[in-house]
Amino acid sequence: MSRSFPTELSGCAEKLIRGRHATRAFRPEPVPEDAMRGIFSLAGAAPSNSNAQPWQVEVVSGAALQRLAGALQNAHAEQRTSVDFPYSEGMYTQVHQTRRAAFGAELYGALGIGPDDHAARAAYDSESLRFYGAPHAAFLFVHGDGEARLAADVGGYMQTLLLAMTAYGVDSCPQGLLSFYADTVRAELGIAGGKLLVGISFGYADERAPVNRVRAERAPLESTTAFHG
Ligand SMILES: Cc1cc2nc3c(=O)[nH]c(=O)nc-3n(C[C@H](O)[C@H](O)[C@H](O)COP(=O)(O)O)c2cc1C
Repeated sequence: MSRSFPTELSGCAEKLIRGRHATRAFRPEPVPEDAMRGIFSLAGAAPSNSNAQPWQVEVVSGAALQRLAGALQNAHAEQRTSVDFPYSEGMYTQVHQTRRAAFGAELYGALGIGPDDHAARAAYDSESLRFYGAPHAAFLFVHGDGEARLAADVGGYMQTLLLAMTAYGVDSCPQGLLSFYADTVRAELGIAGGKLLVGISFGYADERAPVNRVRAERAPLESTTAFHG
């Protein structure tokens, strides 16, 4: 059977992939239960090494989410951080640092926070632990001892989940900051085990919020991708 290979993206795929953006101000309306089940079923189609699917997903809503937000803000105020995956500014190369700085200037500019206003940035971090007002958050845990390889599988799941949300008209923000309070998340949800990679706030964007108009630029193709042969 002959098969034709498209050389251009279908409008649908382009709309889905480029239509996803990090949302940092949400309306309170919850995502309907049917859509919720549809989104997380679709996300489960993500690929993983040997199909192990080494993720465990905890979806939190309602009163449980409000309690968790309070616990996270307390942990933040008391500087009780606990990370399962080590983090340091030093892990970024110079070019990555430059991209991060450009993005930070854009984001904090949209929020009206000056580059040296560390107090306002810390206050914004604390506020973001309330999930930017989203009615739901999903926490992605990595199970097993494979470190980078298993985390990479869960990263693939994350992007599949974000695109599934976009397809259902649901907005999202992956928040690495939430993973700095892994012990607090486990204690509040009453779970043991697993390593917390990232939390994702999701719901419906508040379209009036200027912060939701921030668009992060991407590096040109040639600076990240080489074609051999
Ligand atoms: C693993 C991961 C962690 C992130 N952590 C945060 C975070 O803590 N707070 C935040 O506001 N955005 C966070 N983001 C969103 C990024 O800033 C955003 O994806 C990036 O700037 C590109 O913008 P876009 O998603 O709108 O295309 C994170 C994204 C990823 C993938």
